[in-house]
Amino acid sequence: MKLGIIGGGAWGTTLGQTLIDNGHEVLIYDFNIHAVNKINQHLHPFFDTVLPESEKATSNLKDVIDFANYYILSVPTKAVRSVLKEMNALINKKSTFINVSKGIEPETLKRVSEIVEEEISKEHLNGFVVLTGPSHAEEVIIRQLTLLVSSSKDLGLAQEVQKIFSNDQYLRVYTSTDLIGCEFGGAVKNAIAVISGACTGMGLGENARAAVITRGIIEIVRVVEMMGGKRDTAFGLTGIGDLIVTASSENSRNFKAGKKIGQGMPIDQIYAEQKQTIEGIRTIEALHQLSKVYHIDLPMINVAYEIIQNKLTVEEALPKLLSRDLKSEDF
Ligand SMILES: NC(=O)c1ccc[n+]([C@@H]2O[C@H](COP(=O)([O-])OP(=O)(O)OC[C@H]3O[C@@H](n4cnc5c(N)ncnc54)[C@H](O)[C@@H]3O)[C@@H](O)[C@H]2O)c1
Repeated sequence: MKLGIIGGGAWGTTLGQTLIDNGHEVLIYDFNIHAVNKINQHLHPFFDTVLPESEKATSNLKDVIDFANYYILSVPTKAVRSVLKEMNALINKKSTFINVSKGIEPETLKRVSEIVEEEISKEHLNGFVVLTGPSHAEEVIIRQLTLLVSSSKDLGLAQEVQKIFSNDQYLRVYTSTDLIGCEFGGAVKNAIAVISGACTGMGLGENARAAVITRGIIEIVRVVEMMGGKRDTAFGLTGIGDLIVTASSENSRNFKAGKKIGQGMPIDQIYAEQKQTIEGIRTIEALHQLSKVYHIDLPMINVAYEIIQNKLTVEEALPKLLSRDLKSEDF
């Protein structure tokens, strides 16, 4: 089967290797010519890994549109809408969109599935799947065991994507029809990972990290339930699973960005130093809006938002959280 990958960064290029391992053909599109050249030299653009000979890239979007009608969206969430507009102008056949980016659009508070529905003409949209779960590209590229979830409103399509990506060596994919739960789980966990990193940056210990992860899952549950997803999804791979891997790992870009926030580094400097995608900071901004619009109680995310906006220092954050009314842990 032929699949086009939109975004040849850490994750897109890694998934390309998996698809080739599974016997598929891939072509990657990226607007960054350096990434394209590296892939075409069989080198991963971010990791010290040699890629399969047949993994190829182009900086011409039309090449990928002509190559396939299954597209994997692996650009940062902030770029998804503009890329989809460009794709829609070129697509002339029914196409399936498999999103692997994790975030919500801050300006509209929309999930990627909603953006796809808005930007791709109905006659060209076959369906949408999100492929998500605990997955550091650094591990998948060296074929280490990873479990993902393929979620779609269309179970048949979720099962098709499950088969495309699963293999008996290192990747196992489950299905879900709770698209809302899976999309929000993947987005909110990045915000919590930033907060977990900030605790480490502030010099707090493992007690604090366990507390952030556990109370973080409560914030994920509140968002998922309020937005129409299933509570159980938050306790699966796409919620707590992805939260554990991201919020407890120095490998995570969101955790690393949070650590710098905790050490007092300004956000502009963090973005300048980290050229690759950091979804969590923008997701904190989006979730802060979401909490206001839908009246969702997200204390950690809202304090993190105030820090990002320079309305609160990291030193003031803890007393602010700890001085809230004392409560029961019962749901
Ligand atoms: N890195 C991981 O381990 C991992 C795992 C699972 C999910 N994700 C998610 O996948 C998404 C991408 O992450 P990544 O780590 O690959 O990021 P990345 O920064 O390494 O790669 C993103 C790529 O998209 C390209 N790009 C950006 N805007 C574009 C545009 N308008 N047109 C064409 N190309 C464009 C960039 O040039 C870059 O090569 C994020 O939402 C992230 O949360 C990442």
